[in-house]
Amino acid sequence: MTNDVLTVHGGTPLHGQIRVRGAKNLVSKAMVAALLGDEPSRLFDVPRIRDVEVVRGLLELHGVKVTDGVEDGELVFDPANVESASTDEINVHAGSSRIPILLCGPLLHRLGHAFIPDLGGCHIGPRPIDFHIQALREFGAMVDKAPDGMHLTAPNGLHGTKLELPYPSVGATEQVLLTAVMADGVTELRNAAVEPEIIDLICVLQKMGAIIKVHTDRVIEIQGVPRLGGYTHRPIPDRIEAASWAAAALATGGDIEVLGAEQVDMMTFLNVFRSVGGAYEVTDARPRAGQEGKIRFWHPGGELRAVAIETDVHPGFMTDWQQPLVVALTQARGLSIVHETVYEQRLGYTDALNTMGATIQVYRDCLGGTPCRFGRRNFKHSAVIAGPSKLHAADLVIPDLRAGFSHLIAALAAEGTSRVYGVDLINRGYEDFEAKLAALGAHAERG
Ligand code: EPZ
Repeated sequence: MTNDVLTVHGGTPLHGQIRVRGAKNLVSKAMVAALLGDEPSRLFDVPRIRDVEVVRGLLELHGVKVTDGVEDGELVFDPANVESASTDEINVHAGSSRIPILLCGPLLHRLGHAFIPDLGGCHIGPRPIDFHIQALREFGAMVDKAPDGMHLTAPNGLHGTKLELPYPSVGATEQVLLTAVMADGVTELRNAAVEPEIIDLICVLQKMGAIIKVHTDRVIEIQGVPRLGGYTHRPIPDRIEAASWAAAALATGGDIEVLGAEQVDMMTFLNVFRSVGGAYEVTDARPRAGQEGKIRFWHPGGELRAVAIETDVHPGFMTDWQQPLVVALTQARGLSIVHETVYEQRLGYTDALNTMGATIQVYRDCLGGTPCRFGRRNFKHSAVIAGPSKLHAADLVIPDLRAGFSHLIAALAAEGTSRVYGVDLINRGYEDFEAKLAALGAHAERG
């Protein structure tokens, strides 16, 4: 019997303080980077989320000793005895996350071969890996796609190369970084993603001994080195989680202080938050004075205003900020517009909001000027949200991580009792979300 359901009694503004830790989308990559070193690495502020468990499991299967450090959230990786794992053991992790694809380069460097299971991750479109495979082949890897996964070898070693991504993919940029750092010679990557999590991964690799230059115009140059050591790193905070709680404060008419949140990587979000009518106050970290950084987000009263947003690669409005914010936009007066340009199918969750009383229409057209790959390909990737709408309770099934959090916010904002099925999915990216909900005064219980 599964108990993967949360009963949410909505209509109460969320009030209080919660903390975000290291960014999920950096922490998991930094863990993979530890595999490249020949000395132990130490990572702080690691959240207890499922993606971290999956990567930890994969590292351990390959002989990396992973232990808890002294500090809460500290992990220590010892890669002294990296070894091959059987495909059966690796396949236990099939379908659980997209991170395994990033093990290709490090395993080829350390073992000369790699096996990558079928990927998982959120169902937000086809999510191909063609850029990854193309890049790996250009480094000299032989990639063999089999029914059980992907087998890779590098009979002549891995060599630096010149690459240009068709789109600034986060994962493909990380793939190139994690492969190029120990490839023979220089790699030049054009049209790279430059998300803060990528820059932080570059910091990790630099601490290990890598030589990486980030030029203007999305060009990254990596000079391969024969060996890398370990790192000690405190990751950037999770700006997606911080924005999710900000949206929850706005949608429920509440007031949430997000400890650990930092302004610099959230500027685009903060601009939109203010345009909608939300209020926020930034407190900078002053470590020497013992002061932690934080951002307080609240609904200042009065009506929210409609806005037009287009998701984009950094420094644009993140695709992962979109779903939680849309719940707040159902409460704004007028017509809000969302043009999703990163994923072709990331608006399906709006059906559930409509069953709760929202008025959201999705379109195949590009409702915005940002160049997009989906306009002529018949994908429903734009939305118009007419508000304000009174949300009422419903039974909801969580489709993916970020949409799942938006369902949760909608249930918290709605009058009445909702049942949200599949909430365990939220643990993939939100640490202790149920404890945080309780701390914010939400009325929700399992079952
Ligand atoms: C990362 O996914 C994040 N995941 C995503 O967060 C995030 O939404 C995304 O970057 C964009 O910021 C992790 O870091 C683990 P992409 P990633 O490669 O790397 C297309 C969350 O909820 N593409 O930048 O997989 C792809 O289909 C998750 O935390 C190809 O066509 O994203 C998409 O349309 C969800 N071929 C676009 O590029 C490829 O080989 C951007 O994807 C690779 C990507």
